[in-house]
Amino acid sequence: MPEKKEKYYLTTPIYYTNGLPHIGHTYTTVVCDTIRRFKRMRGYDVVMTTGTDEHGVNVERAAKKAGIPESEFVAKMASEWRALWDELGVAADEFVRTTDIQHVRTVQWLFRLFKENGYVYKGHYTGQYCIYDNAFVNDAKPGDNCPDCGRPTETVTEENYFFRLSAFQKPLLDFYKKNPDFIQPETRKNEVVSFVEGGLKDLSITRTTLRWGIPVPGEEPHVFYVWFDALTAYLSAVGGPDYEKRGYWPADLHVVGKDIIRFHTVYWPAFLMAAMLPLPKQVWAHGWFLMDAAKMSKSKGNVVLPRPIANMLGMDALRYFLLREVVFGQDGNFSYDALVTRYNSDLANGLGNLASRTVALIEKNFAGKIPKSGPRQPQDDALAKEVQAAIGEVLERYDKMEFARALETMWSVIGAADKYLTAEQPWALGSSEADQAREATILWTAAELLRVVVALANPVLPATAAKVWILLGQAGSLDSFGLDGLRWGQLAPGAQLGKAQTLFPRVDKAEAIERIESMANEELNPKPAAPVAASDPAAAGTVAAASAPATTTPEKIGIEDFSKVEMRVGQVKTAERIVGADKLLKLTVDIGSEVRQICAGIAQFYEPESLIGRKVVVVVNLAPRKLRGVESNGMIVAASVGPDGRPVLAGFLEDVEVGARLK
Ligand code: MSP
Repeated sequence: MPEKKEKYYLTTPIYYTNGLPHIGHTYTTVVCDTIRRFKRMRGYDVVMTTGTDEHGVNVERAAKKAGIPESEFVAKMASEWRALWDELGVAADEFVRTTDIQHVRTVQWLFRLFKENGYVYKGHYTGQYCIYDNAFVNDAKPGDNCPDCGRPTETVTEENYFFRLSAFQKPLLDFYKKNPDFIQPETRKNEVVSFVEGGLKDLSITRTTLRWGIPVPGEEPHVFYVWFDALTAYLSAVGGPDYEKRGYWPADLHVVGKDIIRFHTVYWPAFLMAAMLPLPKQVWAHGWFLMDAAKMSKSKGNVVLPRPIANMLGMDALRYFLLREVVFGQDGNFSYDALVTRYNSDLANGLGNLASRTVALIEKNFAGKIPKSGPRQPQDDALAKEVQAAIGEVLERYDKMEFARALETMWSVIGAADKYLTAEQPWALGSSEADQAREATILWTAAELLRVVVALANPVLPATAAKVWILLGQAGSLDSFGLDGLRWGQLAPGAQLGKAQTLFPRVDKAEAIERIESMANEELNPKPAAPVAASDPAAAGTVAAASAPATTTPEKIGIEDFSKVEMRVGQVKTAERIVGADKLLKLTVDIGSEVRQICAGIAQFYEPESLIGRKVVVVVNLAPRKLRGVESNGMIVAASVGPDGRPVLAGFLEDVEVGARLK
């Protein structure tokens, strides 16, 4: 581990605010979060930046469509992006908005440096412009479509400031030669090099046709070209003109999708050269996640959203899938089928099963304490050797951004452990001293293997790894565990295991997919808020009577309004928890005329078994709706008690007939 913490700075792209994040954006952000966690576990002082790219004609149009001023529109969007990253556990250390004042100053400062160094001049430009990609399309004629997104270009003439990009052809080619790892992967590097070898035209970096942008000081109505604006955000996030004080610039790594590699490996280094600032060390361009063989976009209606997947299967499952399914750098198809298959096979049956088997046996036969390994047999040593070798291999694969292969190595160790347990059958051993010693060795070996695997997997599966760490009775946070010190054999006997828990409950594939899709549908086409407490997740599916006296006098309603609400006595037939929805129970309730499925937000306060046979009050004429993807046909009435709104089910002091109406 480095003595004084070495600094490491990495970035995601600065995402556009005219839409909300889908699985493609989530992919890049998850990759960065994984690298951040990995580097921290190797002792680096890491800063990760993400942010929102808030200027440009697209945002201008989206705000107009929403009928609100641009500043209000972008503030709302930026807070939604930020909230989603928080919710998914991948919030960056720096979140830069291109409307931040610090950023605006940095952009204007950089432009001043260009001017001082003689790299800008005024001119006119007429060309075909793609408003979706915010870029002039080189060599396009009027009527041509944008080669990147396929949508029509527009002819635009304007007075611009031009950046002397042509002056940087040779310096860039020299830079690529001197820094052969700057562009990754290799195939992308070749594309960029041949593009630059083909000659570079000067680039217009201000606009007069656009209003919503950073003003060029003293040159109104010029505003800066959005790509110049957005790229600069990487620098403004870590100090802007004062970057030396914070000490994170130059960036160690920009992670981007292959769609924006040219901006990062040609324009951006040229801008920095013109300002005589240090250049980033590496740009890594990954491939796309495709849906039905096409790049996802909201206009095509083929986007996959991260939240429903995280709700249903957990964020770790999504992280695992994104990093395991596709070789980093290449394109891959996204499919719910493959996602749930991997969840059940690799996570529920693989890691989850190994952890629960091992812990249950230690619980049962060693009073929940890690046993002391007895004499070893060759097969124990062989497994130990395999795990020790895997440690070095996994670290190297992470370092090379080979996430799929790193996970493959970890899962081959899990597979070896399964085989080992099946062959050694610790559960079949008796109570003789020799058998006990053998069982201790086997279970210590399995527990040690688990400890090593979750330490290695922590950058990808932070929530799960932390749970297993506690299960194994390990002290301290795994996030600050030094990966470089990880060795086979460090598991001390005697540690008290944590409480057993299921890491990844198995799910039925068809049902899981249906629920994910239904949640996605709800998110993409939100219904206006339902009138009664339904937007409160804790009270979902229950009508809560207010516990505190009302502070304002509510408007009175007539009996005819009250009689619109049909409440009947119901009897709970079945009750079960819902995977991915901690607060909800799925009930079937007999309401006399039929048996209904109803979801109730009472899981944290009522055990499912305690409800069976219970008579409850049901609002039966509510329109059906889906909660966390599960259909709910009615509401159970409950009082909401205390500051945390604990639900207490309404009931009767004497027996009542099922189906009786409440009036
Ligand atoms: N605002 C620019 C970036 C400026 S960086 C200084 C932009 N924004 S974006 O919102 O369109 O994000 C593009 C990035 O999102 C891609 O480069 C990639 O990182 C990610 N992805 C978007 N769709 C994707 C897939 N379908 N698959 C994988 N990643 C993709 O471009």
